[in-house]
Amino acid sequence: MTATRRTGSTLDRSFGRETVSTTERRERIQRVFGAVAPRYDLMNDIMSFGIHRLWKRSLARRVVAVRGFVVDLAGGTGDVARLLASEGRCVVVCDPSLPMMHAGMRRGKGGLVWLAGEAERIPLGDASVDLLTVAFGLRNATQLERALVEIRRVLKPGGRFVCLEFSRPAPWLAPVYDLYSFLVIPRLGALVAQEPHAYQYLVESIRRFPDQQGFASLMEQAGFDEVRWENVSFGIACLHFGRRPGMQAGDNGSALSSTSSPREGAITLSGVGKSSSTS
Ligand SMILES: C[S@@+](CC[C@H](N)C(=O)[O-])C[C@H]1O[C@@H](n2cnc3c(N)ncnc32)[C@H](O)[C@@H]1O
Repeated sequence: MTATRRTGSTLDRSFGRETVSTTERRERIQRVFGAVAPRYDLMNDIMSFGIHRLWKRSLARRVVAVRGFVVDLAGGTGDVARLLASEGRCVVVCDPSLPMMHAGMRRGKGGLVWLAGEAERIPLGDASVDLLTVAFGLRNATQLERALVEIRRVLKPGGRFVCLEFSRPAPWLAPVYDLYSFLVIPRLGALVAQEPHAYQYLVESIRRFPDQQGFASLMEQAGFDEVRWENVSFGIACLHFGRRPGMQAGDNGSALSSTSSPREGAITLSGVGKSSSTS
């Protein structure tokens, strides 16, 4: 596998190896997650031997000090949001897939707020969020650069952004990883989720996403500062960190008392703005 730097624009029209229109791409991705939702969590555990849980915990540990209004974008079934839920935080799962969120809610709402919305049009007000996380979600965004600008827009000045995404593994690991990805994962997808094409899309979309440096550059172009990344599991996945420039989040009062509300058009499954326990 090459360590090609890909920009977001190469993602816009790709569905796996196919070239499709942006509308078609968005619709197909919606269908993929609609189809895999009931078995999504189980498949994650099987495919990664449970390691995705360690990666997600690692993300959660890095942001333990941040309080206030927390959004887990592309939050799916709420795995990461559950790890982020703690005293002093209001945690929102934001995802365009209602089936994914419903599958998550069946595990218990966990004191989380569930909000329908896409990364390219985050249904939240400007400068309203103290911490925004996204795990294995941004490669599904049809307009990656726009999504990054949106993330920066909703963050308060000084607010933190952490992205966990598959990346480029160390060269010694790449051949084994590629074999496993292309031979084993789609077969597991067929066996466990009865959705081989969905998992074929997954492995191909990983290759289309920018590598470590490429994504860091996109973050800088979108106006983040303190941009850095840390590989996990030898670069199979990567934690990207950034901050919206400006005053530290929380300096101007409690984020939980933020006056921001979902933008028009958002479908709130479990009302943002309602008082909600986060534990
Ligand atoms: C691989 S799942 C990750 C779910 C969860 N973050 C996790 O780590 O388990 C990708 C998620 O991205 C969501 N998604 C797809 N297109 C999106 C978009 N344009 N903006 C935000 N999320 C999107 C899907 O609905 C799906 O829930």
